[in-house]
Amino acid sequence: MDTQQRVLACLADGRFHSGEALARRLGLSRAAIWKATKGLAAAGLEVHAVRGRGYRLATVLEPLDAGRIRAELGGAAAALLDRLEIHQEIDSTNRHLLARAVEGGGPGWACLAESQRDGRGRRGRRWHSPPGRNIYLSVLWRYAQGPETLAGLSLAVGVITAEAVAAAGVDGLALKWPNDLLCRERKLGGVLLESGGESGSSCHVVVGIGLNVGMPAAGSADIDQPWCDLAAELGPRTPSRNRLAGQLLDRLLPLLASYPTTGLAPYRDGWQALDALAGNQVRLQLGAREVCGRHRGIDRDGALLLERDGRVQRYHGGEVSLRRVE
Ligand code: BTN
Repeated sequence: MDTQQRVLACLADGRFHSGEALARRLGLSRAAIWKATKGLAAAGLEVHAVRGRGYRLATVLEPLDAGRIRAELGGAAAALLDRLEIHQEIDSTNRHLLARAVEGGGPGWACLAESQRDGRGRRGRRWHSPPGRNIYLSVLWRYAQGPETLAGLSLAVGVITAEAVAAAGVDGLALKWPNDLLCRERKLGGVLLESGGESGSSCHVVVGIGLNVGMPAAGSADIDQPWCDLAAELGPRTPSRNRLAGQLLDRLLPLLASYPTTGLAPYRDGWQALDALAGNQVRLQLGAREVCGRHRGIDRDGALLLERDGRVQRYHGGEVSLRRVE
């Protein structure tokens, strides 16, 4: 843990701590404490500094805790979870597990981080990952088959993510193809699948889920699309991140283990029921090319179906964006 993270751990209780007491407790100078609190504020946390009282966080933080997360798992998921890592800070949980996969890690390795320096989103975007408030979760799974047997997996992950969030009491959830989790038309979470291995032989997949639980206002202006978080939707009913992470793993691990057998079929109706744009005229960006048509849901492999000139055409994943036609 670096200095900033150690200071954050002390401040997590939401109470005032004087600079002197923090310095003594952590064996640091008061200047180092001051610098660390500035760093936390720059990272997006609301740190109150009050003369004569010291520093405190505007909200209490419950640190990610492997024991609390495991306590949320049913028997099936618990048996499938081989390793659960929690990092204070990491470049990207997806990148971390992809590296572990190359070294022979998995299946059933999960990784969570309090913050990501270089969180990855779809289409080469950056995933804004400030410390202590959101969920950044990745799971590594290995398959005896090639990646072509995993068609639609990212959509199925979108469905179970929406189910876990709905179980927390959130209304107005929807999925935008392929797997953007929206709440009242603003982005609440996203899924990024990254895989390795040769076609036709074994492969590994890292499933990354980002969920906005309590996005700090500071720094959020950088997010390049309308967004929301669970704290705004649920207020004091917002579940702890440990509970949410456990609920996600409880659904995700059995899905990953059974996907070569089930495919998308058990999740397809759930996806269509959450389809944000069903029946709408939409615009699809395929690199430099743009295609317009009426959104007709997804096929059995998760491809997007667009009706154009009376014919339904299939479009696959990749660098695709989808927008309502004005
Ligand atoms: C999207 O762009 O909608 C997908 C966002 C996925 C973000 C998650 S956060 C955990 C995991 N690690 C990453 O670097 N990205 C994914």
